[in-house]
Amino acid sequence: MAPRKSVAHTRKVQLEVCIGKEAQPVGQLAFVKDGNREYSVFTYSAGWLSHPARFAVSPDLALAPGYQVCKPPGKEDLRFFFALADTEPDAWGRRVISRAHAKARKNDPMLKALTELDYLCAVDDFSRIGALRLRNDAGAFLRTMAQGLPATAPLLELEQMVAASRAVECSQESLQDLRYLLGKGTSLGGMRPKCTVLDDDGTLALGKFPSVQDERSVTRGEVLALRLARRAGINAAKARVVMVKETPVAVISRFDRNVDQGRIAYLSAASLLQASRTQEHAYTEVVDAMRVACVEVKADARQLWRRLVFNHLITNVDDHLQNLGFLHVGNGLWRLAPAFDLNPFPDKDRESKTWLSEDTGPSPPSTPCLKKPTTFTWQSSRLLRYCLRFLQPWTVGALWQRVPKLA
Ligand SMILES: Nc1ncnc2c1ncn2[C@@H]1O[C@H](COP(=O)(O)OP(=O)(O)OP(=O)(O)O)[C@@H](O)[C@H]1O
Ligand SMILES: [Mg+2]
Repeated sequence: MAPRKSVAHTRKVQLEVCIGKEAQPVGQLAFVKDGNREYSVFTYSAGWLSHPARFAVSPDLALAPGYQVCKPPGKEDLRFFFALADTEPDAWGRRVISRAHAKARKNDPMLKALTELDYLCAVDDFSRIGALRLRNDAGAFLRTMAQGLPATAPLLELEQMVAASRAVECSQESLQDLRYLLGKGTSLGGMRPKCTVLDDDGTLALGKFPSVQDERSVTRGEVLALRLARRAGINAAKARVVMVKETPVAVISRFDRNVDQGRIAYLSAASLLQASRTQEHAYTEVVDAMRVACVEVKADARQLWRRLVFNHLITNVDDHLQNLGFLHVGNGLWRLAPAFDLNPFPDKDRESKTWLSEDTGPSPPSTPCLKKPTTFTWQSSRLLRYCLRFLQPWTVGALWQRVPKLA
């Protein structure tokens, strides 16, 4: 007979999930750590199930009463339902959180190892992506700073953010650097050093910093690509370069907030597809999912196609499904979010992370992605005209000549 597990091995934390600026309760999330196993359980509240604005907040959370369980089959799989997992920090934020924890552990060796819940809850509430929010049983939103201090700093503090982030990258950070970055540098996903900032007009933005590993100006390249994308008819996030002494910082407006700092629900394309992060996926699968979830399928499918061609022409090969997202427009329907994280990689082979279709594989340059326009509700003749008119002159070489001029 298997030995009974001691209760001491099982830890359960219960949180309330809310939505929007008004923090409308949506349901209860329980996080369970059972030995090495971590999983979560969610129940919608009766109030949300009968709310006029109700919708399934995550594609893997059917809008129905009762417990729904997210048990990851393997170590690489998500411990949280997709929409919540979209709000977790990624490589960069996790690095800041785990370093701060390691430093704290030196003073307090009894401190427990970090769980996935610790990462989810280390995200600053004010700048957490999308509309979902977490509240503990003391009524505090996670995470909020002590004494109600804002974790999001104005552009004026960019210099300090850049310096603290650089120290982390070089493993020379002080406890003060880490304390400073918690909340600021940990709210969004992605690998590259970044912080959330308040722009001059008080709106939320993100500041992306050069990495010590960069061999070219990646931040300028990203701003240039986002601007060119807008000129090519792509709905792309607003971006500019802000010089912090000698350092060009890409300041990019957040698209998941409206004018009154209202919060717009967000889903990555990976979540929309309920895709495992380790599997290959294709744009045709994204379009299929959009047919069910999107309110303006035709327009968004064409927009996606434009982005695909644009990515191909500027060699933006980092087009994984976390770099594509959707914003909620009401009644459980979504629209393609503005394009973000567009980066020209002039030195890389043109092999996209997301395949054109399940049978093409990463499209090589000899088969530019012009073969399947009808899937994207676009006629080939219109598509070719568009490509010739807008995109052909923008070879990657020409693009890079403009980079130093970008201020
Ligand atoms: N303008 C924006 N508004 C709202 N959220 C955004 C915006 N830009 C990025 N995000 C969110 O922040 C995350 C990280 O941003 P981004 O992809 O630019 O970082 P990155 O470190 O370059 O990513 P990667 O690891 O793909 O290189 C995105 O996955 C998305 O969830
Ligand atoms: Mg990214």
